[in-house]
Amino acid sequence: MKIYSGWRRLLFCLPLVFLVPHLFSVFELHQSSIVEVQTKKNYKKFDHLVLGPAAGQGLPDRLQCQGVKALNKTHFSSPSNGATSRDTISLVTVFALYNISPHSYEDDKSSNLVTVGNTSYSKGERSMAILDVFINFIQVSMPQSNVIILTDPASALSVGRNSVTVFPIQGEYSRDKLMLQRIRSYIAFLDQRLMEHSKWHGRVNHYIFTDSDVAVVDDLGPIFQNYPNFHLALTFRNNKNQPLNSGFIAVRGTNVGILRAKLFLQEVLEIYSSKFMKASRMLGDQLALAWVVKSHPSFDSKRFTRPQAFMDEIHGASVLFLPCALYNWTPPEGAGQFHGMPLDVKVVHFKGSRKRLMLESWNFFSSSYSNVSDMLCLVLKSGRTKYDF
Ligand SMILES: *[C@@H]1O[C@H](CO)[C@@H](O)[C@H](O)[C@H]1NC(C)=O
Ligand SMILES: *[C@@H]1O[C@H](CO)[C@@H](O)[C@H](O)[C@H]1NC(C)=O
Ligand SMILES: *[C@@H]1O[C@H](CO)[C@@H](O)[C@H](O)[C@H]1NC(C)=O
Repeated sequence: MKIYSGWRRLLFCLPLVFLVPHLFSVFELHQSSIVEVQTKKNYKKFDHLVLGPAAGQGLPDRLQCQGVKALNKTHFSSPSNGATSRDTISLVTVFALYNISPHSYEDDKSSNLVTVGNTSYSKGERSMAILDVFINFIQVSMPQSNVIILTDPASALSVGRNSVTVFPIQGEYSRDKLMLQRIRSYIAFLDQRLMEHSKWHGRVNHYIFTDSDVAVVDDLGPIFQNYPNFHLALTFRNNKNQPLNSGFIAVRGTNVGILRAKLFLQEVLEIYSSKFMKASRMLGDQLALAWVVKSHPSFDSKRFTRPQAFMDEIHGASVLFLPCALYNWTPPEGAGQFHGMPLDVKVVHFKGSRKRLMLESWNFFSSSYSNVSDMLCLVLKSGRTKYDF
């Protein structure tokens, strides 16, 4: 009896022993397919504008919106009141064209076309469209400035726009080396300026290096007057792992400003090459930038927690730290805390999957009535949506 029931148990158990792992893997498969579906849902990328709530509602110093109508005026100063003779400002960006010919077979497939407004863009045309809108915003917000595009001599880039210069710099512009090359190009560019020093004839030309997926929505000239002592300026945010964003670096166009900025960037490049090469594709430059700043003995990183500009002396350079909230504004990804948009925001960064929004914003701005404040409501309400390009 005992033996029999023992056998019976064993007989019943045996298939189970085999079944359990099998069930488990089916269960796991099922689970992971659910997760995948959910992830896909969360990361669904839209091919049209999607507006959410406007964060920062009721906060007195944040933009208030009714639909896409701004209830506040966002920009108080009229550009260029001509009180002082202004120095020239150039916005400088690194731009690489990849071998996706606009007419390649791959590109002609309609699935690769995205439509914004009345225009369809192939993959190859999208980055040109971003560059174009980048220039448009600068020409509206800083009409006296000019744009310099640093690029691979091999790309034969031509941009037929007024006040825009293409500046070829030899280098390795492949996608996975682009962030590294970008610093190298900045350094080479600054070096070139120093060598031409004798041709300046006392004229000062300041430089602001930015990503090309930004919209400059206010005059940036005042930073050079309001903070007369910095050599270079960086943007920071309250983020422990990535406190500095490399998408905005301003350099005072004096001999000493350019020299100090160049030496500082050389230090960043060295740290990048020696410590962060594994991250070279995306974040290496930001990690290296943060390392150079934070490893400075006197540096107090608590200052990153308050969105207020401050200065510090790092590697012989006077560095101005500007809050991302104003000079590199981007809504946080995912479910991060989000307190809306400051009224005096100057640069909006269309990071990641927000490139469509950059084009949509320009279309919105340029259609009918050109109101920056209203356009910023559109950006505020839509900035957390992920788009198809
Ligand atoms: C912005 O507009 C709201 C709504 O009209 C108003 O309550 C708030 O005081 C305004 N903020 C500023 C700084 O003017
Ligand atoms: C834009 O809209 C805001 C808010 O309605 C208004 O205060 C401002 O005067 C408008 N600006 C222009 C240039 O029309
Ligand atoms: C698209 O084309 C239509 C018809 O030509 C025009 O009314 C509309 O303003 C255009 N929209 C944009 C965003 O250019």
